[in-house]
Amino acid sequence: LSFKQTNTIPIQLNPDALPKHVAIIMDGNGRWAKKRLLDRIKGHEKGADSVRQIVEACGKIGVPILTLFAFSTENWQRPKKEVTALMVLLKKFLVSERPNLMDKGVRLNAIGDLDRLPKEVRDELDKTIRLTSANDTVTVNLALSYGARAEIVRMARQICEEVKSGRLQSNEITDETVSNYLYTAGIPDPDLLIRTSGEMRISNFMLWQIAYAEIFITDTLWPDFNENEFYEILKRFQMRERRFGRV
Ligand code: FPP
Repeated sequence: LSFKQTNTIPIQLNPDALPKHVAIIMDGNGRWAKKRLLDRIKGHEKGADSVRQIVEACGKIGVPILTLFAFSTENWQRPKKEVTALMVLLKKFLVSERPNLMDKGVRLNAIGDLDRLPKEVRDELDKTIRLTSANDTVTVNLALSYGARAEIVRMARQICEEVKSGRLQSNEITDETVSNYLYTAGIPDPDLLIRTSGEMRISNFMLWQIAYAEIFITDTLWPDFNENEFYEILKRFQMRERRFGRV
């Protein structure tokens, strides 16, 4: 599979060895804006263009699942002005992208504590999820009001209830049981985790699911991240040997 791109040599990717699930910690919108003496929200707006580009790239090359960390449980503590602006941006994106998602065969899904989202955002989210539910080119999981520890606590509580009610025995609990009570139930774990803007942190993202993910950290700020760099990372992913703890 090769891509002809402006400014770049065609990138060779093996279509049979692409990750089935890519997860991305989209970081650096604020710094992108600051460098240009712009308001932070301008960075988030530019970041939304990168989201569109990477979703389309997944469709083009055949990466079936993409999970994007769009808003963390900790992000609720940002200044009210920024939280509101992010919610407005998200709502606009959910409405304006619908035709594009349908056109590209993208199914939207969301993970996280969605009940905390403002009602008008939640409504547009539900509407987009319903509308796109039969699409099957790419599934995009938007992590919204998401925190991995909260997800794990929720899983523990639900499993405890199952045990208490006698529907499950504690010695029957396996890795698979745990996976089935996370927001990502039924979704294979990410093979590849990308973080932009150079930070060497996981920031409470998919702690259980990334157990065997290959991790790539790029210094590029999320608004500058584009499909060419994504393909470069996929190429490097294909050169790594994944051993899952075996020799
Ligand atoms: C991290 O940058 C980014 C976020 C907290 C929000 C992510 C949102 C988008 C990419 C845009 C909207 C998303 C969709 C799905 C339309 P930061 O603000 O933490 O940057 P900094 O670390 O440089 O301050």
